[in-house]
Amino acid sequence: MHKGGFDLKSILAISSSPRRNGNSELLLQSFAKGAEEEGCDVSLVRINELNIKPCQACDGCAATGECVQKDDMKNIYPQVASAAGIVLATPVYFGSLSAQLKAFIDRFQSWWHAKYRLNMSKVKPEEGKKAFFICVGALQKKEYCESALAVAKIFFHNINYQYKDCICQRGVDEKGAIKEYPEALQNALDAGRDFAGQTPDL
Ligand SMILES: Cc1cc2nc3c(=O)[nH]c(=O)nc-3n(C[C@H](O)[C@H](O)[C@H](O)COP(=O)(O)O)c2cc1C
Repeated sequence: MHKGGFDLKSILAISSSPRRNGNSELLLQSFAKGAEEEGCDVSLVRINELNIKPCQACDGCAATGECVQKDDMKNIYPQVASAAGIVLATPVYFGSLSAQLKAFIDRFQSWWHAKYRLNMSKVKPEEGKKAFFICVGALQKKEYCESALAVAKIFFHNINYQYKDCICQRGVDEKGAIKEYPEALQNALDAGRDFAGQTPDL
């Protein structure tokens, strides 16, 4: 709750690198700081430190829209359902997302069933929830970031969050090397501020 007594806009910040305080997470933290400066309440979730198994394609969610696996995703679903905004951060791995983030995304197959088969979307498009994407790769090839972003956009569409923008940082490899690019961190902070203004009051 905000000091004034009204609810802060909540933003869910998903860090998916196995490197705590790695490059993508440092950009995410700057983004979060910017959003917090604009009055948002940002929850940072490090999915590498959670127990999140890959989708088993068991169709256990087909009739209910609820995943039947019992792991840490049970705490994530309500957070995604109630947030005003979501931001995903990932290192680029072999031209795609981290395995941690892909497993996380695939677990929203239950939401796919809810939306497309059961007509009971967990988030309604008219709620106007917003999404942002951050990725960091070592190489300059922009194709690597494009593949990762394409997957993220499909995910955002599936969960009825409107994709707003991305930061695709290339040419950064060693852990923490992003600190040598203060303009990139500032850019992430500014993006977080902007994003805060775009998320809805729920
Ligand atoms: C398994 C693995 C695969 C990678 N594949 C790519 C790649 O395809 N393209 C690229 O530009 N960088 C690649 N990298 C480098 C990382 O994207 C880079 O080190 C990045 O800064 C890591 O971000 P982090 O500190 O947030 O984990 C790879 C690194 C690892 C460990």
